[in-house]
Amino acid sequence: MILVIGAPGNVGRHVLARLRAAGAQGVRALVRPDEAAAADLPGGVEVAIGDLRDVQGLEAALTGVETVFLVWPMLTTEGAREVLEAIARHARHVVYLSSIGVGGRPEERDDPIFGLHAAMEALVGESGPSHTVLRADTIASNTLGWADQIRATGTVRAPLMAATAVIDPRDIAAVAVRVLTGDAHRGATHRLTGPRVIDPPEQVRAIGAAIGRELRFEEVPVERARERMLADGRPPALVDALLRAVELRAPSTLVTSAVADITGKPARTFQRWANDHRDAFR
Ligand SMILES: NC(=O)c1ccc[n+]([C@@H]2O[C@H](COP(=O)([O-])OP(=O)(O)OC[C@H]3O[C@@H](n4cnc5c(N)ncnc54)[C@H](OP(=O)(O)O)[C@@H]3O)[C@@H](O)[C@H]2O)c1
Repeated sequence: MILVIGAPGNVGRHVLARLRAAGAQGVRALVRPDEAAAADLPGGVEVAIGDLRDVQGLEAALTGVETVFLVWPMLTTEGAREVLEAIARHARHVVYLSSIGVGGRPEERDDPIFGLHAAMEALVGESGPSHTVLRADTIASNTLGWADQIRATGTVRAPLMAATAVIDPRDIAAVAVRVLTGDAHRGATHRLTGPRVIDPPEQVRAIGAAIGRELRFEEVPVERARERMLADGRPPALVDALLRAVELRAPSTLVTSAVADITGKPARTFQRWANDHRDAFR
């Protein structure tokens, strides 16, 4: 039995679908109580209701589980040790979805998101089961956060996050399925990127090409962005973490061949992701 945590999410939903397509028999999705009705999960997947913040409630979801796909969607490691202890009472292998920034440039060590994943990797490593770490670059589906602005104005106003080799969540999922269903990657850490480095203005242009409309990117200074994000009701800790990342991260030059090496297929371009998700921006 494989338990997918974060199952309704951008990556998790593709992990589930691909596990089923690969013929995996025992696949269970962890879904939060409030989301259970809305979660659109592939057929043949068992649903376990649970919340990472309620470790006792996870016992039923973990019963009979041998392998766990773990995302940690929080901004601190609070509660993570207890969750990992619960996982270790059942599972023999954990696949953790981490961030490409772990172990990266010294000037980025104060980045709260990279720091969170570094701390999570350490906790996963200490927890007992064998583990595989997937350090993913920026996920293409983050740009869905621009959809309202694109529809309303055709201009994305946002702070300028450094360019990275943005990765398609389907490629992360394809790697995850290989790792979850075989023994070959136990103990490994893989750095997963898209095929080339692409900055936010170019991402906006690619979405524009996908929907047949000229779109613009307009940089918003960090302090103005902070006011707006707080006024929109985003949690202050999340706003801080995102804006620290804008300030600290330098443009990346890293492109790896891990997706192709592990799955046998080249990583998809951002343009391909945008074309396949054009309806979300119309
Ligand atoms: N975004 C990036 O660029 C990036 C890069 C590298 C690594 N990562 C890591 O990859 C992870 C997955 O990315 P994603 O794009 O798939 O994220 P996502 O779409 O936000 O999915 C996160 C999933 O976690 C679930 N979740 C949130 N809080 C939970 C809780 N307390 N208990 C149980 N489930 C909970 C959410 O469920 P609901 O549907 O109920 O909200 C959702 O299904 C991120 O959390 C991050 O740690 C992200």
